Amino acid sequence: MTSQIKILGVGSSLRNGSSSTAFLQIALDLVKKEGVEVRMLDLRQNKLPLYDPNENRSSLEFQKVEENVKWADAFILATPDYHGSMSGAMKNFLDYFWSDFAGKTFAYICASHEKGLTVMDQMRTAVRQCYGWSIPYGISVNGQNDLENGKIKNHELKLRLEMLARDLVVYGKLIRQQFVTDMTNNVTNTFASHYGK
Ligand SMILES: Cc1cc2nc3c(=O)[nH]c(=O)nc-3n(C[C@H](O)[C@H](O)[C@H](O)COP(=O)(O)O)c2cc1C
Repeated sequence: MTSQIKILGVGSSLRNGSSSTAFLQIALDLVKKEGVEVRMLDLRQNKLPLYDPNENRSSLEFQKVEENVKWADAFILATPDYHGSMSGAMKNFLDYFWSDFAGKTFAYICASHEKGLTVMDQMRTAVRQCYGWSIPYGISVNGQNDLENGKIKNHELKLRLEMLARDLVVYGKLIRQQFVTDMTNNVTNTFASHYGK
């Protein structure tokens, strides 16, 4: 990796005018202010077929998403709350790319009427199973209450998003750098030697 990390935002609502994706864009703009390169991967625009382990993955859609995943050192995952869990599109994304997450840090945004705590816990569990690291808190948003004409109208939420942007850049960089250093130097019996590839 270069001296600065690169952050990919993954939006996973297929709904027109999604609030989770709108907040993800706001978060990415805040990350950019930290001097970091960001990209948005909106799964509504880049639809992946349902994951099938038998299928040949040569489609252009797959290759485009894969290029973004490999480019990233850290992620912000944004999802709507669907019955206390993440969207099918988000779970499908994690199923495809699990092997690219070791040594990368993840932050979470959930659009919910009920805080979405179980949603973010489930994303954290899936990411842990893929050897990714998670920011221990998440950001819960409610499009109706927190957004007006695409702008945040909740000051506390803006502060939390700024905190998330700063923390992801700082902790994401520390974790990624150590992982890459251990991999490069073939340091044995470490997280990187066990779970890197
Ligand atoms: C299939 C489905 C299941 C949902 N389940 C919940 C739920 O369990 N709890 C909740 O607070 N909202 C639930 N919602 C509402 C969405 O989480 C909410 O509208 C969210 O803001 C949508 O995010 P988006 O604007 O990014 O699409 C559900 C919506 C759908 C379509």
